[in-house]
Amino acid sequence: MSRTVYVNGAFIAEEDAQISVFDRGFLFADGVYEVCSVLKGKLLETEGHVARLHRSLNELDIPAPCSDEELLAAMEKLVADNDIDEGLVYLQVTRGAADRDFAYPKDPKPTLVMFTQAKKLLNDPVADKGITVITLPDLRWARRDIKTVGLLYPCMAKMEAKSKGAQDAWLLDDDGFVTEGTSNNAYIVTQDNKIVTRHLSNSILHGITRRSVLALAEEEGMVVEQRPFTPEEAYNAKEAFFTSASAFAMPVIKINDAVIGDGTPGEITQKLRAKYIELSLSI
Ligand code: PDD
Repeated sequence: MSRTVYVNGAFIAEEDAQISVFDRGFLFADGVYEVCSVLKGKLLETEGHVARLHRSLNELDIPAPCSDEELLAAMEKLVADNDIDEGLVYLQVTRGAADRDFAYPKDPKPTLVMFTQAKKLLNDPVADKGITVITLPDLRWARRDIKTVGLLYPCMAKMEAKSKGAQDAWLLDDDGFVTEGTSNNAYIVTQDNKIVTRHLSNSILHGITRRSVLALAEEEGMVVEQRPFTPEEAYNAKEAFFTSASAFAMPVIKINDAVIGDGTPGEITQKLRAKYIELSLSI
Protein backbone atom coordinates (compact mmCIF):
# COMPACT_ATOMS: atom_id res chain seq x y z
CA MET A 1 0.00 0.00 0.00
CA SER A 2 1.31 3.40 -0.96
CA ARG A 3 1.77 5.91 1.84
CA THR A 4 1.11 9.59 1.75
CA VAL A 5 4.36 11.39 2.50
CA TYR A 6 5.15 15.04 3.06
CA VAL A 7 7.65 17.04 1.00
CA ASN A 8 7.99 20.79 1.49
CA GLY A 9 4.36 21.60 2.18
CA ALA A 10 2.82 18.96 -0.11
CA PHE A 11 1.11 15.71 0.90
CA ILE A 12 1.74 13.27 -1.94
CA ALA A 13 1.88 9.56 -2.75
CA GLU A 14 5.30 8.14 -1.86
CA GLU A 15 6.00 7.09 -5.47
CA ASP A 16 5.50 10.69 -6.64
CA ALA A 17 7.75 12.31 -4.02
CA GLN A 18 10.89 13.95 -5.37
CA ILE A 19 14.04 15.49 -3.91
CA SER A 20 16.72 17.31 -5.91
CA VAL A 21 19.97 15.41 -6.66
CA PHE A 22 21.65 18.59 -5.37
CA ASP A 23 20.00 18.36 -1.96
CA ARG A 24 22.76 18.76 0.63
CA GLY A 25 21.17 16.09 2.79
CA PHE A 26 21.93 13.65 -0.04
CA LEU A 27 25.40 15.04 -0.93
CA PHE A 28 26.83 15.91 2.51
CA ALA A 29 24.47 14.37 5.10
CA ASP A 30 23.81 18.07 5.78
CA GLY A 31 20.58 17.59 7.66
CA VAL A 32 18.97 16.57 10.90
CA TYR A 33 16.04 14.35 11.82
CA GLU A 34 13.59 13.34 14.53
CA VAL A 35 11.60 10.18 15.16
CA CYS A 36 8.32 10.59 17.03
CA SER A 37 6.25 7.62 18.15
CA VAL A 38 2.52 7.27 17.65
CA LEU A 39 0.33 5.37 20.14
CA LYS A 40 -3.42 5.02 19.59
CA GLY A 41 -3.15 7.56 16.78
CA LYS A 42 -1.51 10.17 19.04
CA LEU A 43 2.01 11.58 18.65
CA LEU A 44 4.20 11.23 21.77
CA GLU A 45 6.63 13.74 23.24
CA THR A 46 6.19 16.29 20.44
CA GLU A 47 7.35 19.17 22.63
CA GLY A 48 10.68 17.46 23.36
CA HIS A 49 11.26 16.38 19.77
CA VAL A 50 10.49 19.84 18.37
CA ALA A 51 12.79 21.47 20.97
CA ARG A 52 15.62 19.08 20.07
CA LEU A 53 15.01 19.66 16.35
CA HIS A 54 15.55 23.39 16.93
CA ARG A 55 18.69 22.69 18.93
CA SER A 56 20.12 20.53 16.11
CA LEU A 57 19.16 23.12 13.47
CA ASN A 58 20.71 25.95 15.50
CA GLU A 59 23.98 24.06 15.99
CA LEU A 60 24.26 23.69 12.20
CA ASP A 61 22.85 27.10 11.19
CA ILE A 62 20.04 25.55 9.19
CA PRO A 63 16.92 27.73 9.19
CA ALA A 64 13.65 26.19 10.39
CA PRO A 65 11.59 25.13 7.37
CA CYS A 66 8.27 26.29 8.86
CA SER A 67 6.68 27.28 12.15
CA ASP A 68 6.25 24.73 14.94
CA GLU A 69 2.47 24.96 14.54
CA GLU A 70 2.73 24.12 10.83
CA LEU A 71 5.13 21.28 11.59
CA LEU A 72 2.87 19.72 14.24
CA ALA A 73 -0.24 20.13 12.10
CA ALA A 74 1.53 18.41 9.18
CA MET A 75 2.69 15.56 11.43
CA GLU A 76 -0.84 15.05 12.72
CA LYS A 77 -2.30 15.13 9.22
CA LEU A 78 0.23 12.54 8.07
CA VAL A 79 -0.71 10.23 10.96
CA ALA A 80 -4.42 10.63 10.12
CA ASP A 81 -4.02 10.31 6.33
CA ASN A 82 -1.99 7.12 6.72
CA ASP A 83 -4.31 5.77 9.40
CA ILE A 84 -1.45 5.13 11.83
CA ASP A 85 -2.62 3.67 15.12
CA GLU A 86 0.81 2.51 16.33
CA GLY A 87 4.07 3.47 14.70
CA LEU A 88 6.17 6.51 14.10
CA VAL A 89 6.66 9.71 12.16
CA TYR A 90 10.12 10.32 10.71
CA LEU A 91 10.95 13.91 9.89
CA GLN A 92 14.07 15.24 8.24
CA VAL A 93 15.24 18.79 7.59
CA THR A 94 18.20 19.38 5.28
CA ARG A 95 19.92 22.59 4.20
CA GLY A 96 18.21 22.08 0.83
CA ALA A 97 19.48 22.06 -2.76
CA ALA A 98 22.51 24.10 -3.88
CA ASP A 99 25.32 23.56 -6.38
CA ARG A 100 27.83 21.21 -4.73
CA ASP A 101 30.17 23.23 -2.52
CA PHE A 102 31.44 22.44 0.97
CA ALA A 103 30.64 25.99 2.10
CA TYR A 104 27.02 26.52 3.09
CA PRO A 105 24.88 28.37 0.50
CA LYS A 106 24.13 32.01 1.44
CA ASP A 107 20.36 31.80 1.28
CA PRO A 108 19.44 28.18 2.03
CA LYS A 109 15.93 26.88 1.40
CA PRO A 110 15.65 23.94 3.75
CA THR A 111 13.98 20.73 2.65
CA LEU A 112 11.41 19.19 5.02
CA VAL A 113 10.45 15.58 4.41
CA MET A 114 8.20 13.45 6.61
CA PHE A 115 6.81 9.96 6.39
CA THR A 116 5.09 7.44 8.65
CA GLN A 117 5.92 3.84 9.50
CA ALA A 118 3.36 1.49 11.03
CA LYS A 119 4.99 -0.53 13.81
CA LYS A 120 3.76 -2.63 16.75
CA LEU A 121 4.97 -0.76 19.82
CA LEU A 122 2.72 -1.87 22.68
CA ASN A 123 2.80 -5.64 22.34
CA ASP A 124 6.31 -5.92 21.02
CA PRO A 125 7.47 -9.56 21.36
CA VAL A 126 11.09 -8.36 21.38
CA ALA A 127 10.41 -6.47 24.61
CA ASP A 128 9.05 -9.65 26.24
CA LYS A 129 12.24 -11.50 25.45
CA GLY A 130 14.89 -8.77 25.62
CA ILE A 131 17.70 -8.23 23.16
CA THR A 132 21.40 -9.06 22.96
CA VAL A 133 24.13 -6.54 22.20
CA ILE A 134 27.83 -6.58 21.45
CA THR A 135 30.27 -3.75 22.17
CA LEU A 136 32.19 -1.94 19.44
CA PRO A 137 34.41 1.14 19.37
CA ASP A 138 32.47 4.38 18.94
CA LEU A 139 33.83 5.62 15.62
CA ARG A 140 31.18 8.32 15.07
CA TRP A 141 32.04 12.02 14.93
CA ALA A 142 32.41 14.00 18.16
CA ARG A 143 29.08 15.91 17.99
CA ARG A 144 26.71 13.09 18.78
CA ASP A 145 24.44 15.57 20.57
CA ILE A 146 23.32 16.80 17.13
CA LYS A 147 20.80 14.43 15.58
CA THR A 148 22.27 14.45 12.07
CA VAL A 149 21.37 12.09 9.25
CA GLY A 150 25.04 10.99 9.05
CA LEU A 151 24.22 7.47 10.28
CA LEU A 152 26.57 5.26 8.31
CA TYR A 153 28.67 4.14 11.28
CA PRO A 154 25.57 3.17 13.32
CA CYS A 155 24.44 1.16 10.23
CA MET A 156 27.85 -0.55 10.06
CA ALA A 157 27.78 -1.29 13.79
CA LYS A 158 24.26 -2.74 13.57
CA MET A 159 25.40 -4.99 10.68
CA GLU A 160 28.44 -6.13 12.68
CA ALA A 161 26.12 -6.96 15.59
CA LYS A 162 23.83 -8.95 13.27
CA SER A 163 26.76 -10.85 11.80
CA LYS A 164 27.65 -11.91 15.35
CA GLY A 165 24.09 -13.04 16.13
CA ALA A 166 23.25 -9.97 18.28
CA GLN A 167 20.59 -7.33 17.64
CA ASP A 168 22.47 -4.14 18.45
CA ALA A 169 25.81 -2.68 19.50
CA TRP A 170 26.75 -0.55 22.48
CA LEU A 171 29.54 1.81 21.54
CA LEU A 172 32.70 2.44 23.58
CA ASP A 173 34.70 5.67 23.87
CA ASP A 174 38.52 5.69 23.81
CA ASP A 175 38.62 5.08 27.58
CA GLY A 176 36.46 1.96 27.28
CA PHE A 177 33.24 3.49 28.65
CA VAL A 178 29.87 2.94 27.00
CA THR A 179 28.63 6.04 25.18
CA GLU A 180 25.25 4.75 23.94
CA GLY A 181 23.65 2.25 21.57
CA THR A 182 23.68 2.70 17.79
CA SER A 183 20.25 4.37 17.96
CA ASN A 184 19.38 4.48 21.66
CA ASN A 185 20.60 5.46 25.13
CA ALA A 186 22.16 2.73 27.30
CA TYR A 187 21.54 1.92 30.99
CA ILE A 188 22.42 -0.62 33.63
CA VAL A 189 20.82 -1.36 37.00
CA THR A 190 23.43 -2.16 39.64
CA GLN A 191 23.09 -4.99 42.19
CA ASP A 192 21.94 -2.35 44.71
CA ASN A 193 19.22 -1.13 42.30
CA LYS A 194 20.84 2.10 41.10
CA ILE A 195 20.05 3.10 37.52
CA VAL A 196 23.25 4.17 35.79
CA THR A 197 23.38 5.96 32.44
CA ARG A 198 25.97 8.22 30.89
CA HIS A 199 25.63 11.93 31.70
CA LEU A 200 24.65 14.40 28.95
CA SER A 201 27.49 15.85 26.86
CA ASN A 202 28.50 16.01 23.19
CA SER A 203 29.30 12.27 23.40
CA ILE A 204 25.68 11.12 23.27
CA LEU A 205 22.32 12.11 21.88
CA HIS A 206 20.17 13.80 24.52
CA GLY A 207 17.34 11.30 24.30
CA ILE A 208 13.80 12.51 24.74
CA THR A 209 12.75 9.10 26.06
CA ARG A 210 15.80 9.17 28.37
CA ARG A 211 14.58 12.39 29.97
CA SER A 212 11.08 11.01 30.57
CA VAL A 213 12.24 7.60 31.80
CA LEU A 214 14.70 9.16 34.26
CA ALA A 215 11.95 11.44 35.56
CA LEU A 216 9.66 8.41 36.00
CA ALA A 217 12.43 6.51 37.80
CA GLU A 218 12.91 9.37 40.23
CA GLU A 219 9.15 9.64 40.79
CA GLU A 220 9.20 5.94 41.69
CA GLY A 221 11.90 6.65 44.28
CA MET A 222 14.63 4.91 42.30
CA VAL A 223 18.20 6.20 42.54
CA VAL A 224 19.67 7.46 39.25
CA GLU A 225 23.39 7.97 38.68
CA GLN A 226 24.37 9.84 35.54
CA ARG A 227 27.95 8.75 34.87
CA PRO A 228 29.89 6.59 32.42
CA PHE A 229 30.02 2.81 32.96
CA THR A 230 32.19 0.09 31.44
CA PRO A 231 31.12 -3.19 29.80
CA GLU A 232 32.69 -5.00 32.82
CA GLU A 233 30.38 -3.13 35.18
CA ALA A 234 27.49 -4.01 32.86
CA TYR A 235 28.40 -7.73 32.85
CA ASN A 236 27.95 -7.74 36.63
CA ALA A 237 24.80 -5.62 36.64
CA LYS A 238 21.40 -6.84 37.75
CA GLU A 239 19.71 -5.50 34.62
CA ALA A 240 20.49 -3.63 31.42
CA PHE A 241 18.22 -1.76 29.03
CA PHE A 242 18.08 0.99 26.45
CA THR A 243 15.62 3.75 25.60
CA SER A 244 14.51 5.34 22.35
CA ALA A 245 11.35 6.85 20.90
CA SER A 246 10.58 3.71 18.92
CA ALA A 247 11.53 1.15 21.61
CA PHE A 248 10.51 2.94 24.87
CA ALA A 249 12.53 1.04 27.53
CA MET A 250 13.89 -2.18 26.00
CA PRO A 251 15.51 -4.96 28.10
CA VAL A 252 19.04 -6.08 27.23
CA ILE A 253 19.68 -9.63 28.39
CA LYS A 254 23.17 -10.32 27.06
CA ILE A 255 26.20 -8.11 26.42
CA ASN A 256 28.97 -9.80 24.44
CA ASP A 257 29.23 -13.24 26.11
CA ALA A 258 27.87 -12.12 29.48
CA VAL A 259 24.29 -12.99 30.40
CA ILE A 260 22.79 -10.13 32.41
CA GLY A 261 20.97 -11.18 35.60
CA ASP A 262 19.10 -14.41 34.88
CA GLY A 263 18.91 -13.71 31.15
CA THR A 264 15.33 -12.44 31.19
CA PRO A 265 14.00 -8.84 31.19
CA GLY A 266 14.65 -7.26 34.60
CA GLU A 267 11.98 -6.11 37.02
CA ILE A 268 13.01 -2.45 37.09
CA THR A 269 13.25 -2.31 33.29
CA GLN A 270 9.79 -3.83 32.94
CA LYS A 271 8.37 -1.43 35.51
CA LEU A 272 9.85 1.59 33.72
CA ARG A 273 8.58 0.32 30.36
CA ALA A 274 5.07 -0.18 31.77
CA LYS A 275 5.09 3.24 33.47
CA TYR A 276 6.30 4.98 30.31
CA ILE A 277 3.54 3.33 28.25
CA GLU A 278 0.93 4.09 30.92
CA LEU A 279 1.95 7.75 31.00
CA SER A 280 1.99 7.97 27.18
CA LEU A 281 -1.50 6.51 26.91
CA SER A 282 -2.86 8.82 29.59
CA ILE A 283 -1.86 12.10 27.91
N1 PDD B 1 17.20 7.11 17.54
N2 PDD B 1 20.97 7.83 20.81
C1 PDD B 1 20.99 7.75 19.47
C2 PDD B 1 22.30 7.68 18.78
C3 PDD B 1 19.78 7.75 18.74
O1 PDD B 1 19.81 7.67 17.41
C4 PDD B 1 18.55 7.80 19.45
C5 PDD B 1 17.23 7.80 18.73
C6 PDD B 1 18.58 7.87 20.85
C7 PDD B 1 17.32 7.95 21.68
O2 PDD B 1 16.71 9.21 21.57
P1 PDD B 1 15.13 9.38 21.72
O3 PDD B 1 14.76 8.81 23.03
O4 PDD B 1 14.92 10.85 21.63
O5 PDD B 1 14.49 8.63 20.57
C8 PDD B 1 19.80 7.90 21.50
C9 PDD B 1 15.99 7.12 16.71
C10 PDD B 1 14.82 6.47 17.36
C11 PDD B 1 16.33 6.54 15.34
O6 PDD B 1 17.36 6.89 14.83
O7 PDD B 1 15.51 5.78 14.78
